[in-house]
This record gives sequence, C-alpha cells and structure tokens, in this order.
Amino acid sequence: MLNENTNSYNIEFIRSQFPALNVRVWNKRLSYLDSAASMQKPKVVLDNIQENYSSSYSNVHRGLHYLSEKATESYENSRIKVANFINANENEIIFTSGATAAINLVAYSWGNQNLNKNDEIILTIAEHHANFVPWQYIAKSKGAKIKVVHYNPDEDFDLSKIKGLITNKTKLITFPHVSNVLGTVFPVKEICSLAKQVGAVTLVDGCQGAIHFKVDVKELGCDFYCFSGHKLYGPTGIGVLYGSINLTSAMPPFMCGGDMIDVVKINETTYADPPLRFEAGTPPIVQAIALGKAIDWVNEIGLENIEKHEKKVLSYGIDKLNSIKGVKIFGKNKNKAGVISFTMDCAHAHDIATIVDREGVAVRAGHHCAQPLLDAFNIVSTTRASVGAYSDFDDFDQLANALTKVKKIFGAL
Ligand code: ALA
Repeated sequence: MLNENTNSYNIEFIRSQFPALNVRVWNKRLSYLDSAASMQKPKVVLDNIQENYSSSYSNVHRGLHYLSEKATESYENSRIKVANFINANENEIIFTSGATAAINLVAYSWGNQNLNKNDEIILTIAEHHANFVPWQYIAKSKGAKIKVVHYNPDEDFDLSKIKGLITNKTKLITFPHVSNVLGTVFPVKEICSLAKQVGAVTLVDGCQGAIHFKVDVKELGCDFYCFSGHKLYGPTGIGVLYGSINLTSAMPPFMCGGDMIDVVKINETTYADPPLRFEAGTPPIVQAIALGKAIDWVNEIGLENIEKHEKKVLSYGIDKLNSIKGVKIFGKNKNKAGVISFTMDCAHAHDIATIVDREGVAVRAGHHCAQPLLDAFNIVSTTRASVGAYSDFDDFDQLANALTKVKKIFGAL
C-alpha cells in the first residue's frame, strides 16, 4: 500500500478501503476526526465478518465437526497474530470483550488475590475511567491506597514524578501508553523498570498506544498490556489482555463457566491453564477472527508507515488549529500521538462539536472519560480531534473552516 515508485504513503488508496469515509454527512464530505473513540473499518475486515458468519461459523473448542474445527483454527490463529503483533507468547494473549473487561480482569483476579490493607497502587491523573474506577473500587474493598501521579500537561512525562511516589508498599503501577486526552506518550520501559526495582506489577492501558506504533511487550518489560479491537480497525466486542504467563498462571479465574475448566466434579473444579482459564463461556469468535484480519491489514501497510503518516497529519492539524485565534490546545508536549484536545474562548465544547458536525466534521467533545484529568486543569470539557491511518490534511482544513463558522456564530469574528 505504499506507492511502488515513490515509496510514499498512498493515502488515497488507503482511504478508498474504508466504506464509511464515503458517507455524506449533512450532504458534506465526512471529515472523521474521532478515531480515538473508535476507528473506521477497512473493507477486508467487514468482508471477513460476513464471510465468517456465512461459511465458517460455529462455536469453538467444543465441536468435533468440520465447521467447529475450522472456526477453532481461525480463532486460535488470530491469537497467534495478536501475539506476534506485540511480541508475546500465544498463551499470554487473553481475548476479552474489550479493554475495560481486560482491566477488570486484572483488578478482580490479580488485585483481589494480591492486594492487602495499606498496599499502594500508583496510577496517573491521565487515566481513562476504565483504568481508574476498577482500581478505586478494588482499593476500597481491600483497604489499599491509591496514589495519583500529577504531571505538567504541556511537557513530556517526567519520570521523577513517579519516582517520588514509589515505596516498598507499591504493588501495582498502572498508566496509559498514550493519554486519550492529551496524546502524551508515556515512557513505558522506564516506568516498568522502576516498578521492577520494588517488585511492583505493571499494567499498561494500551488503547491509544498499540494502534499508533509498534509495541513489543517483552522489550517494554510490562506485566500486563491491554487494548481494544475496535480501536485497531477491528470490530467492537473484542479486546486483548497480554498477561505475563508467570503472573497469569498463578491467578484465579475472573469469570467461571464453560471452556475455562479442566475437570468439574460436584465438590471441586480444576481450571484450564491460561489463556482459556480467563475466557469463560462462548467467546467473541467472529470478532476475534476479524481482529486478526485487521492486524493483517495494519501489517500490510506497516505500523511504522502509519505512525509516520499520522505524525505528519497531527502536526499539520496542530499548526492549523494554532493559527486560529481563540483556540487553546491542551498538551503541548513533544512526544505526542493521535489526538489534539482544544478549547475555544467563544464556545463550549458541545456547541463546537454540534456546529462542526453540520460541516461534516466528527469530533468528540466532553470529558473523554477522564474526569480527574479535566478537574486538574479546572475545565469540564474539551473538543478532541483524533487521527488514524486514513486521516489527511483535508480533514483538518475542513475542521479549521468549521471552527471559523463557530466563531462567526458566537460573534467572535
Ligand atoms: N476511550 C475512548 C475515547 O477516548 C472511547 O474516546
């Protein structure tokens, strides 16, 4: 998908593979700048879903017949694709219904087993609610303490902020790979290495990470890493939890039911080894297989090419928005990926999102499921433009024109 002659990124060809980008919005070209909330899907993924339900569908791990064996093979093949994608072993990839389920799995299974009164959990002010509320909940029930790392939103994350909070009571350090509001890229490897010094476990919320650049969990040295399928050009209803086998093999199940057992007797049940121990019930079969297809698609373009392209588009978008008087961008740090959050002097984020929508531009407005972070800035909402492999300069030109309209409507021009 790179131009053979120029070796440049063939954005037109990439865009042509996303049927949703052709949708006319209020009779205008769609500028889809809400990829951090969910990516659009390439046709190969959509076809794969249709194909799986039409000609290869059955339940997995339970049938001896042709279709069940075929579905099981594709499901397990997808696990291998995910494992290779982040350099994990196959038995370290747990399919969940999404990143939220993955984090809850760690909180309930590992957290309940390992956290005790006065133990400390370190997390950051930038957590998405999905990586904040489960820990708050478990901490309350176990009498553990939450310590929050604050940092300067306009600077790259400073390791000293976390160093000062680590003690020999620290049991878990958890943080986003990339902030879904500011786009700050966290120094995962360095934080994991600090955690190791006190024997703390690390969980990386990779929802906004693995979709933008190459992730190698072994190199990062994290214990857990999770992401959602729908943010990686795949379907909804599927998520991934990478869990180091050293930890997961000692963890109790999170949910009980079929497929996660070894032997069930009236008085006692023994459990399957990971990953199946954590995949009770009929899993999201077609979604997992289609996620494998999405990964094939990403690999074909090359995540490093996507990363380069997105960086160019993001920096174009930042310049464009900075050129509009009255727009304030949050997160001016250098190491930034995927998102631009901003406010305008003249209008509330919800008004901005509604007006730009009428100009064909899709953005997210509100607290972005990160209320503690917005509280820390003393604001209640921002407007967020976010990019994917298919985003282009036109998307930001369209946004900038639409923002001029916002200014006109609110008498700021
Ligand atoms: N976590 C998603 C977002 O940031 C939904 O929009």
